[in-house]
Amino acid sequence: MYNKGIIIPGLLILVLFVTFPIWFNGFTTAGDLPKPELPPGGEKECVMPADYMRANHMKLLNEWRDNVIRDGNREILEIAGVKYPKGLQTACMKCHTQQEKFCDSCHIYVAVETNCWECHLTPDMATSKEATH
Ligand code: HEC
Ligand code: HEC
Ligand code: HEC
Repeated sequence: MYNKGIIIPGLLILVLFVTFPIWFNGFTTAGDLPKPELPPGGEKECVMPADYMRANHMKLLNEWRDNVIRDGNREILEIAGVKYPKGLQTACMKCHTQQEKFCDSCHIYVAVETNCWECHLTPDMATSKEATH
């Protein structure tokens, strides 16, 4: 004997579960991809192509940190004729000055938290520090 009282609700739950991504996106704004704001200074190039940066910026940052801290190598990068000493504040944040509208717009979407700003300063933090002195 089949027990309809169990099988039918069971099937319904299965269908809801399998189709979850479809209807869930309909109900929430989770389907809207983040739109990180590009550099307000009008720079057109990143240190590497944008596709590469999207996938690998965290690895690149780790590499840079090791280069600078372990090997004392703070190479000067030249991008579109402008020189940037390798570094989070000295390069990335010189172009991507708007940390919240750039870095955080993606990180909040993918629920990634970084502790970088406990020690490093975003351009906004650096400005407000200067203002209080
Ligand atoms: C506990 C404090 C602390 C935290 C947290 C921290 N850093 Fe650093 N970081 C430092 C210090 C100190 C240096 C050395 C600065 C120097 O020599 O110029 C450094 C250097 C670096 C450098 C190379 C030099 C430079 O000017 O950027 C990179 C890149 C870097 N950190 C990236 C990161 C990233 C990315 C995060 C977050 C995932 C992070 N750091 C979190 C303290 C910290
Ligand atoms: C000289 C200015 C400049 C520097 C320095 C720079 N960027 Fe970029 N970055 C850009 C520009 C301009 C774009 C957009 C490029 C494009 O769309 O082709 C970009 C794109 C990106 C993207 C992809 C954004 C997207 O919309 O998908 C990421 C992630 C990124 N940068 C992170 C970083 C990090 C991390 C650093 C430091 C390691 C850094 N950038 C250094 C100018 C810069
Ligand atoms: C285009 C979207 C996007 C932009 C813009 C972006 N990130 Fe990310 N970031 C991601 C994603 C996605 C991950 C998580 C990747 C993973 O888990 O493998 C990540 C992870 C990281 C991590 C590693 C965190 C961890 O604990 O694993 C660091 C550090 C980081 N990002 C720094 C930055 C900084 C600094 C900026 C701004 C200069 C930035 N990111 C801009 C999408 C972005």
